[in-house]
Amino acid sequence: MSFVTVIGTQWGDEGKGKIVDLLAENADCIVRFQGGNNAGHTLVIDGKTYKLNLLPSGIVRENTKSYIGNGVVLDPFALIAEIDAVKKQGLNVTPEKLAISETAHLILPIHKILDGLMEDVRGGKNIGTTRKGIGPTYEDKVARRGIRVCDLHDTENLKTRLNDMMHHHNALLKGLDQPQINADDMYNELLSIRDVILSYASPVSIEIEQADKDDKNVLFEGAQGSLLDVDHGTYPFVTSSNTSAGQTGIGSGYGAARKAHIIGLAKAYTTRVGTGPFPTELDDDIGTYLGEKGHEFGTVTGRKRRCGWFDTVLVKHACRVSDVDSIALTKLDVLDGLDEIKICTGYMLNGKMITTPPAQTHLWDNIEPIYETLEGWKNGATAGIQDLEKLPDTCRKYISRLEELIKRPISIISTSPERNDTVVLKDFF
Ligand code: GDP
Ligand code: IMO
Ligand code: MG
Repeated sequence: MSFVTVIGTQWGDEGKGKIVDLLAENADCIVRFQGGNNAGHTLVIDGKTYKLNLLPSGIVRENTKSYIGNGVVLDPFALIAEIDAVKKQGLNVTPEKLAISETAHLILPIHKILDGLMEDVRGGKNIGTTRKGIGPTYEDKVARRGIRVCDLHDTENLKTRLNDMMHHHNALLKGLDQPQINADDMYNELLSIRDVILSYASPVSIEIEQADKDDKNVLFEGAQGSLLDVDHGTYPFVTSSNTSAGQTGIGSGYGAARKAHIIGLAKAYTTRVGTGPFPTELDDDIGTYLGEKGHEFGTVTGRKRRCGWFDTVLVKHACRVSDVDSIALTKLDVLDGLDEIKICTGYMLNGKMITTPPAQTHLWDNIEPIYETLEGWKNGATAGIQDLEKLPDTCRKYISRLEELIKRPISIISTSPERNDTVVLKDFF
């Protein structure tokens, strides 16, 4: 198997960065295929921390090539800032190491303004977006008025497209009593970064095909999580892209990505940042304990992440949608020290038991989780463990029970933020 896909099965922040970095040891190419710099992927290598938003997690390895696929929305200013930041940390980022798709859509300053404005207009019903301009950029893409990386080649065409785009958005801004934005200013800003961005531009789809022909190992790095998928998540409290594994082929331009082994990342509990339904959320001491022990603060916005028990209804849903082959279970060590651990096995909804998520948004408010309670491993610890045999017995029972309920094998167990504090139960490449 030369393709592996890593996706989140919850509401993001499952530890995708750590696991992608680990698997990148044997990968030649790492490909981002959706989302943008709303993602925050953290890597900890020998005590040194890297926080990546747009750059694929393979960027820290000398021997891998990183690709930003067409399905990503790319803030060129943020990308340049991120490249500068990782260079300061000693990483080498050159067009030999990083390629960005010519057909990826650009996040422009107007998209960030609109993201913020729309959130403010929604008032108490806001989504809690990262305000990075993700939603408005995907909207422009689908409305066929977006600006793509390749549009930077032809400046006359770029000017025309920007004018057309701003014609639309200025009408909206006027309706919201907001100042008009000058397309020429945005054009000049884009000219200032044009050459740098174009130096990384390439036909990513064709390059991945060539890598496949050369028998290279390709790793697809998902962002966000399945419950944030615009089709399959807790709509409208979702992001604006498809975060599920089906997006790998579309967002990279290489359909053979469907042959990948699909790893679904799941935290040993659940977190969510932003608003929206969360049946197993804990508003008590245990929720606070998980948040503090797990350092559950958003990488992108610094917001406190909401915490709760593991929800098998949601993870099973994600496994069906993405045809997950195996699970990587992360942050197991955060459960160290608890007397009891609960697993949600179903929901009560208006007197009936359901085991799949409801479609209608308002029904989530009436859900009562059904729990199974397992003994914790208060007298043992998992932090830093790298061998399955060293995990406490009650912890092994928790893992086995999750496998039984989710009906997928667990192939990786992560016990600390460090790259090597991991139990790997399968060869992937
Ligand atoms: P991502 O968005 O899925 O890449 O996840 P984030 O990086 O946003 O959030 C995961 C956080 O948990 C990061 O701070 C990681 O360093 C950390 N982390 C990853 N795996 C583990 C683990 O097994 N144990 C602990 N304690 N922390 C972990
Ligand atoms: P990673 O890749 C967690 C959430 C936001 C908000 C919703 C919509 O680090 O797992 P957006 O800015 O995308 O329009 O916001 O999605 N969100 C994430 N939550 N992890 C992420 O990425 C997220 N990316 C977006 O908090 O609720
Ligand atoms: Mg994150």
